[in-house]
Amino acid sequence: MIEAGVFGATGYTGVELIRLLGRHEGVRLSLATSRSNAGRNLAEVFPGAPETDLVAPDQAPLEDLDVVFLCLPHGKSAEVAVAALQAGVRVIDLSADFRLADPDLYQQWYGLQHPAPELLDEAVYGLTETARERLPGARLVANPGCYPTSALLALYPLMLESAVSGQIIVDAKYGVSGAGRAPKLTTQFVEIAEDLRPYSIGRAHRHLPEMESTLAGWSDWQPRLLFSPHLVPIPRGLLSTLYVPLPTGWAEAQIHELFLETYADEAFITVLPAGEVASMRQVNHSNRCSIGLTVADGTLIVTSAIDNLQKGAAGQALQNMNVVFGLNETDGLL
Ligand SMILES: NC(=O)c1ccc[n+]([C@@H]2O[C@H](COP(=O)([O-])OP(=O)(O)OC[C@H]3O[C@@H](n4cnc5c(N)ncnc54)[C@H](OP(=O)(O)O)[C@@H]3O)[C@@H](O)[C@H]2O)c1
Repeated sequence: MIEAGVFGATGYTGVELIRLLGRHEGVRLSLATSRSNAGRNLAEVFPGAPETDLVAPDQAPLEDLDVVFLCLPHGKSAEVAVAALQAGVRVIDLSADFRLADPDLYQQWYGLQHPAPELLDEAVYGLTETARERLPGARLVANPGCYPTSALLALYPLMLESAVSGQIIVDAKYGVSGAGRAPKLTTQFVEIAEDLRPYSIGRAHRHLPEMESTLAGWSDWQPRLLFSPHLVPIPRGLLSTLYVPLPTGWAEAQIHELFLETYADEAFITVLPAGEVASMRQVNHSNRCSIGLTVADGTLIVTSAIDNLQKGAAGQALQNMNVVFGLNETDGLL
């Protein structure tokens, strides 16, 4: 039995992970932390959540754990990761702290000096379908961001075959839980209801360097992205629509076949029939990614839908844990 801890148990990704762990027969939740609700029970904070005692993070015993999931803000995660690794505990970090291999890039985009740059080389970027060689036995996994998960899975088959030419446009929409549970003016009901709002468009969003550096690792070519995220007044879900210029000679049927072949054995990826589009409802409350493909005027339009709290966060974290510990990858997730 794997003994697991969840730091940040009262956040949206933390509580989602605790619900998933409750369905996993090979894992026992031994620790759940919260600063603001220490001493209370998780079910008091989230009615319907598992009855789990909440412990203050600075009093959390690490020694008896096998793995910790860090559902914390960036900066804080790295501090806890250092302590956990020193105690011999594996770490799966849902924050951005270990996603960028370059500490200068981290400082530029996250406004912080990296708290543990010595760990960056060791961290495995856990887009599970593309990382199975490095994940088994890994001590530190950087769980990808939600936008990068949907966009990168939409581009992975194309990058492997160099079936991209020119600038890629990623137009993405996500639900408000993507911004976390802490109250902010920009995510209050009256501010967002009956609105659809782009933000950090073009080359201004923090997930841009994560996507571009991962793409560069799959090919000799460094693609440039234009990335326009939008906040949609719904609780959860993420849909990316990507516009990809195709090199001459690639036909729609060939692209479709490429995606079908690449993802043929994937339990969590559905390549839709040619011409069909992905939508949030196909995947919400699941760890799946749904991918649709259409070609128009030499441009491939890929639609890629995930649930931001599952495949975009807690579900993929559990999928990664399964691979790290050599368990069946779908345990607790189907
Ligand atoms: N939401 C998503 O869709 C999503 C997707 C992918 C990745 N992520 C990443 O996952 C992480 C968690 O996201 P979230 O949406 O779950 O955030 P959240 O809802 O705001 O929850 C954050 C959790 O961390 C705790 N916390 C906050 N500041 C802390 C500190 N300084 N020290 C210790 N604990 C602290 C909070 O509870 P207390 O204040 O009670 O301690 C809470 O339990 C973030 O790094 C986020 O970028 C989120």
